[in-house]
Amino acid sequence: MKICSTIAEARAACRAARTPSTHLGLGPTMGALHEGHLSLVRAARAQCDGVGASIFVNPTQFGPAEDLSKYPRQFERDCELLGKEGVGIVFAPSVEEMYPKGAVSWVVVDGLSEKLDGRSRPGHFRGVTTVVAKLFHIIEPDAAFFGQKDAAQLAVIRRMVRDLDFPVEIVACPIIRESDGLAKSSRNAYLNTEERERALVLQRSLRHVRQLFLDGERCSAALIEAGKQILESEPTVRLDYFEMVHPETLDPVQIVAAKTLVAIAAYVGSTRLIDNAVL
Ligand code: PAJ
Repeated sequence: MKICSTIAEARAACRAARTPSTHLGLGPTMGALHEGHLSLVRAARAQCDGVGASIFVNPTQFGPAEDLSKYPRQFERDCELLGKEGVGIVFAPSVEEMYPKGAVSWVVVDGLSEKLDGRSRPGHFRGVTTVVAKLFHIIEPDAAFFGQKDAAQLAVIRRMVRDLDFPVEIVACPIIRESDGLAKSSRNAYLNTEERERALVLQRSLRHVRQLFLDGERCSAALIEAGKQILESEPTVRLDYFEMVHPETLDPVQIVAAKTLVAIAAYVGSTRLIDNAVL
């Protein structure tokens, strides 16, 4: 496995790994890898001839009051895990390498970037789309693998790729969960034992909404109300948003149709968690 810390190295390694008949897959990550990340790499391996992964805690997608400085970093362990998964190239640049002094150019997906997490985290998606666009230019993957866990991120990236004609296929991978249903996340490491237990309310709420939907309820206001009630049963969990939206436009829906996205963000203690379900 080749570990590249400069753009030039990564570009050269990826170009060397790619021939007209070999497909290169990319799994972009911020490290502190868990089974969710590894599932992307496995999907890439199944679908592509070569696999690259990036590890970069991207400062531009963190707000000033967010957890950039305490975001978990475990580079050696991450590389070991990626090596075991058969990843050929790891791109792990420094902040200075990715954002040269005086960098002022951004990739912005207007509108979509202000919905769901974008509303709660101003500037977040601008940071995501900028870094992902840069990764696509550097690695030049044929396919890139993203988790359905970050459903709004997926919608924003798909729109960027469509609008700007990136020659890359975006592949969505299912949410990987702990055995008790909590969606795997690098941020779960912030939860103490009590918070970890309370965090299960997100999944309980989504399951309840899904059951009501299966029982025939189609009014999103009623489903949201029922889901919120479950969340409110854990008074220490503070809701950020609970929305039912179209999976591509992220616009709220009144009447639930196939593929409606139910998306939740909530604070458990000071940790912000997200989860979602597609009905
Ligand atoms: P990060 O949070 O490290 O996640 C990297 C990828 O792993 C994302 O596509 C995310 O959706 C996916 N992922 C995380 N948890 C998952 C789970 N439980 N099941 C399935 N997939 C999961 O998302 C980012 O980093 C950054 O925004 C990035 C795209 C790398 C840009 O900086």
